[in-house]
Amino acid sequence: MAVNLEELAAPEPDGSPVGLWPTSMRRQAGELTLGGVPTSQLIAQAGTPVFVVDEADVRMRATAWKRAMDSAFAGLAGADVFYAGKAFLCVAVARWMHDMGLAIDTCTEGELRTALAAGVPGSRLGLHGNSKSRAEIELGLDAGVSHFVIDSLAELALVESIAARRGDVARIVLRVTTGVHAGGHEYISTAHEDQKFGLSIASGAAERAIEETLAAEHLELAGLHSHIGSQIVNVAAFAVAAKALLDLRARTAKMTDHVIPEVDFGGGYGVRYTVADAVPPSPEEYARVLAAAVQRHVADSGLTPPRVSVEPGRSIIAPSTVTLYRVGTIKPVVLDDGVRRYVSVDGGMSDNIRPALYGADYTAALANRQPSEECVRTRIVGKHCESGDVVVKDLALSADLGPGDVLAVPVTGAYGRSMASNYNTVPRPGVVAVRDGRWRWILRPESVSDVLALDPDWAHV
Ligand code: LLP
Repeated sequence: MAVNLEELAAPEPDGSPVGLWPTSMRRQAGELTLGGVPTSQLIAQAGTPVFVVDEADVRMRATAWKRAMDSAFAGLAGADVFYAGKAFLCVAVARWMHDMGLAIDTCTEGELRTALAAGVPGSRLGLHGNSKSRAEIELGLDAGVSHFVIDSLAELALVESIAARRGDVARIVLRVTTGVHAGGHEYISTAHEDQKFGLSIASGAAERAIEETLAAEHLELAGLHSHIGSQIVNVAAFAVAAKALLDLRARTAKMTDHVIPEVDFGGGYGVRYTVADAVPPSPEEYARVLAAAVQRHVADSGLTPPRVSVEPGRSIIAPSTVTLYRVGTIKPVVLDDGVRRYVSVDGGMSDNIRPALYGADYTAALANRQPSEECVRTRIVGKHCESGDVVVKDLALSADLGPGDVLAVPVTGAYGRSMASNYNTVPRPGVVAVRDGRWRWILRPESVSDVLALDPDWAHV
């Protein structure tokens, strides 16, 4: 068959931060261990499927962003890193971020309440969202969030009216679209014109929003924001978007005498899902490019530098996490060019919708024991009633795989559990954190009863 099996195999964990696996993952006595906890122990005590987060790895990646931004912007007006909670948020993760000196970007009542429950002060929280409810805006004002990221003129008016009624002033960051379109999949690319997010610079909506914010008594124009898409590994895309945002800041200063104090360059920094993906730029490289854009802006415009923020989500949490699945049925399927082994596991598109939604690629390794030398062309599929329910499209995996074996899929920390569903009335998996040889739940798994209990006509049978 014309498939190079070696290229399809997951690399063995080696402690490298770009090795696909969380840095603490090792193979010891045949089985994978994470944070010093053997897979066999996790499986026996926590069950499958389960997301396993390497706490030290998350902290390391959060710190890398914080240090990179602090150092790149030290000679300017400083920087903040807002962890994008949509990638994955629970109280423990919010605490870790706060501990490491990061702020948190939230975009719903649920995310905001999670961060507040973790003890993160409102002043370290941003509130995003393109369709904020009145209740969310009120909660943001009650909590004293650092800023509201505003997505439309209608929302600007709504926040002004709520703030006015309360006698408050809301700090406003205007999300603008720069026309830069980056990132792999159309659904996750957000700064071109024909999509729902932001105020377009090209159409004049952004300038109008600036004028309206400056004229409003209960709004303070704190910043400009741009988010150009997701899973971007091209630093030049950020440089172009940064320039467009900073040019708008310069034009605003000329037109209105108001020097906008902050700019936020959003998230979208890519990670490596398989060995076929290039090693992504480091936080230092992104920070350097953004700082260079700000330096040029300051030199050209003569304005004081803005305080800068970024909102990485995936690049902090995705590589820190693996999903453990248990193998169920296995069957060979004959193709024109050979045989593909279909391996079903006890999860799938309900805990990772990314392959079905974006065609995302992942890899996997046998976790509970040493794989055999011989590998077989394999597709890992879920347990849901859809042929698109794929976990890993194509990989080379131990020829002696059998039912009951455990597979580890790396880089599942972002947009996995946070986009999980109850499709087929499947309970959503829990998340455990491992550290120093111990594990604990940071998000409990649902049971079938939890899911059924929402049905008022359901009774135990
Ligand atoms: N800031 C804003 C305004 C965002 O909309 C996002 C992501 C982020 C920051 C964080 O982006 P990150 O650094 O995590 O890429 N479900 C898709 C990704 C959707 C991202 C939505 N916004 C996926 O699984 O690829």
